[in-house]
Amino acid sequence: MAPETPTPSTLPKAELHVHIEGALEPELTFDRARRNGIALPYAGVEDLRGRYDFSDLQSFLDLYYTGMNVLRQAEDFTALADDYLARAARQGVRHAEIFFDPQAHTTRGVSLGTVLDGLEASLSSSRERFGVSTGLIACFLRDRGPEEAERMLDELLEHSHRIIGVGLDSAELGHPPADFANVFARAREAGLHLVAHAGEEGPAEYVWQALDVLGVERVDHGIRAIDDEELVKRLARDRMPLTVCPLSNVRLRCVDTLSQHCLPRLVDAGVRTTINSDDPSYFGGHVGDNFEAIEHELGFGVPELRELALNSVEAAFLSESERDRLRGEVHSG
Ligand code: ADE
Ligand code: ZN
Repeated sequence: MAPETPTPSTLPKAELHVHIEGALEPELTFDRARRNGIALPYAGVEDLRGRYDFSDLQSFLDLYYTGMNVLRQAEDFTALADDYLARAARQGVRHAEIFFDPQAHTTRGVSLGTVLDGLEASLSSSRERFGVSTGLIACFLRDRGPEEAERMLDELLEHSHRIIGVGLDSAELGHPPADFANVFARAREAGLHLVAHAGEEGPAEYVWQALDVLGVERVDHGIRAIDDEELVKRLARDRMPLTVCPLSNVRLRCVDTLSQHCLPRLVDAGVRTTINSDDPSYFGGHVGDNFEAIEHELGFGVPELRELALNSVEAAFLSESERDRLRGEVHSG
């Protein structure tokens, strides 16, 4: 039988920007609330889904942090990761570097050990069950400030073999990357990979800081770089990956419509961009859905989509042998 033509959705790829708590589907929210005896302020799944109408990043974060309150026991995190991996695998994901927000759990009494035990119980057999290799990246909540991030890092370093890197997320405006210089220097010293959300809602200046002060290896989002010609040149020159999340940017009104998204301009300028889902349960789909959306709304053809998939492999924190294996899959997939 002739091999099937790849669709944007099934093209093999790596996902480098997904918050596991943002993969919490309303069905699982209700299931876990029932198991954990938690009363939810929603009439049901459809009522909850109906509230996914955001005016900006903060309006989303309010619902996101409320939703994850149903995650109490290790098995809740296992179920969440299993659900994400099954859906991602159906959309061609072969490798996922997954963010989690430790402070969003520890500050409500769920220990870092519980979160890691739960996620690992899923991820440790993900390759065999879903064909997806994985790594975990712990993100600091920037709106809780650098002192709390320092303390979180102390705790994370006791588990440093269980994560591949650290990131920076949550409400961006007023919380510049430079505030976290010392935290990131310590994480680098410990041999962890470094990434940070910058230039999602915040200005291009925050992207400069992520590069020059934090020394990140990838910038998450980074779309406001388009406002600064020098910055775009710098990103292109250094082959610095941007993990772009097109559907998220529309849902959070960082861009008015997908057809106005700066992705084509970044690609044309030679910036290494990857396509990601961010918070797939909240923003209308997984990474394959994002590929389909840019095909339809921005006119990307299969060769260009394959190039974006290849970028995700080049930008992943993989050994060279793993990277080679994945490159082969993207070329022939
Ligand atoms: N946490 C989860 N999703 C996020 C996003 N899009 N921006 C910043 N922090 C987040
Ligand atoms: Zn994100």
